[in-house]
Amino acid sequence: MSRPLSVGVAGLGTVGGGVLKVLRENADLVAARAGRPIVVTAVSARDRSKDRGVPVAGLRWYDDPVALASDPGVDVVVEAIGGSEGSARALAEATIAAGKSLVTANKALLAVHGAELAALAEAKGVSLAFEAAVAGGIPAIKALREGLAANRISRVAGILNGTCNYILTQMREHGREFADVLADAQKLGYAEADPSFDIDGIDAAHKLSILAALAFGRPVAFDSVYVEGIRRISALDIGFATELGYRIKLLGIARQTDQGIETRVHPCMVPSSAPIARVDGVFNAVVAEGNFVGRVMLEGRGAGEGPTASAMVADLIDLARGRLTPVWGAAGSALSSAPSVPMSAHVGAYYLRLMVVDRPGVIADVTAVLRDEGISLESMLQRGRSPGEAVPVVLVTHETRESAMTKALERIAALNTVMEPPALIRIEAG
Ligand code: NAP
Ligand code: HSE
Repeated sequence: MSRPLSVGVAGLGTVGGGVLKVLRENADLVAARAGRPIVVTAVSARDRSKDRGVPVAGLRWYDDPVALASDPGVDVVVEAIGGSEGSARALAEATIAAGKSLVTANKALLAVHGAELAALAEAKGVSLAFEAAVAGGIPAIKALREGLAANRISRVAGILNGTCNYILTQMREHGREFADVLADAQKLGYAEADPSFDIDGIDAAHKLSILAALAFGRPVAFDSVYVEGIRRISALDIGFATELGYRIKLLGIARQTDQGIETRVHPCMVPSSAPIARVDGVFNAVVAEGNFVGRVMLEGRGAGEGPTASAMVADLIDLARGRLTPVWGAAGSALSSAPSVPMSAHVGAYYLRLMVVDRPGVIADVTAVLRDEGISLESMLQRGRSPGEAVPVVLVTHETRESAMTKALERIAALNTVMEPPALIRIEAG
């Protein structure tokens, strides 16, 4: 067997600690698959005294993670610190600049600086590996970049945030409150350091921008992703979704349209019978549609120590084997310049839930607005009877342009019989 691959790990939290555990517990199997042992020789974190659940004594310790890049005994650096700036970014740049490959789970870094980092890695002839950055333990990157490489991809979509899927599942199954369930997800190690990244859809948007770059062979375009999170999803809407035969999921969707690439993250109502509607808890799913393969769906744990470390160690095995794949599946010079399509051009069906005063003529006012904006209704339902009080009314539209829906929503919200901001959820096939 050849010389061991020597790894420096920066960040010893949920993910970095997990990498140490996998490499220790599965050392023989990893060595057999990598063709040589993979050993951690140096680490960096902030607090030397913290119990990591795995021994770190005897490893070279750096208070400054960037120093790992210039340690002559380190072949490859694992970045598990997090954040698009600061130490994580400095370490990524220094590692690649030093001609060493980088393995990272940091989707924020890739979404914001992935284009420059990929260009630098290509120039240096090293690998920038990020299987763990999207959908945790699911090999979604390898599947899109390598397994489906023969296909023209028309759409890639998924449940990309374990924290949100866990929250929505718990709310639906147990009628629990949002804040309560979020605290659980934080304890379980699923949530980001700043959990608003999860619940406001930003983490899913980071991941979607990476998937879109791979699927459509273009540079990462995080700024053009439309983002909406799950803060406004209520128990009432979860109940109506069930009644109408849907489940509410936070989806990330990237789609090739006639105008360019549409990328959006928002809560969706998906038919309960769709396979993705059945993906619950911390599980993620990625669906890709290719012109020869058809539809492919991958499902698995999208967050947590074991699944994320599993993906990072898979990247290390590739590196130990000497496999070097272009970061976005093709050389920088071969990437496409397909434009991004604004959300206002999106066409789809919508669920709209209003709280209106229960009195004659209110529905006529609402439907007059929809008529004026050219929006056709598929169904409508009202529950409860409470003269003079607020009652919920649900409207489901046929396919409509987002720009028309936005205008209608503004006018409906301004009606004096509409008591609360309307709830709008887009309907998606899954
Ligand atoms: P975490 O548990 O908070 O761990 C972060 C680690 O980074 C800690 O060990 C911390 O040190 C260390 N650190 C922070 N600032 C540092 C600095 N300036 N210098 C050296 N070390 C520093 O975070 P995590 O959940 O493992 O996430 C790490 C990365 O993986 C993030 O990019 C995250 O988005 C990504 N990710 C996480 C998951 C997941 O399920 N958690 C899944 C996929 C991807 P101390 O321990 O000493 O404080
Ligand atoms: N906070 C992320 C999630 C971690 O909940 O999915 C995995 O990327």
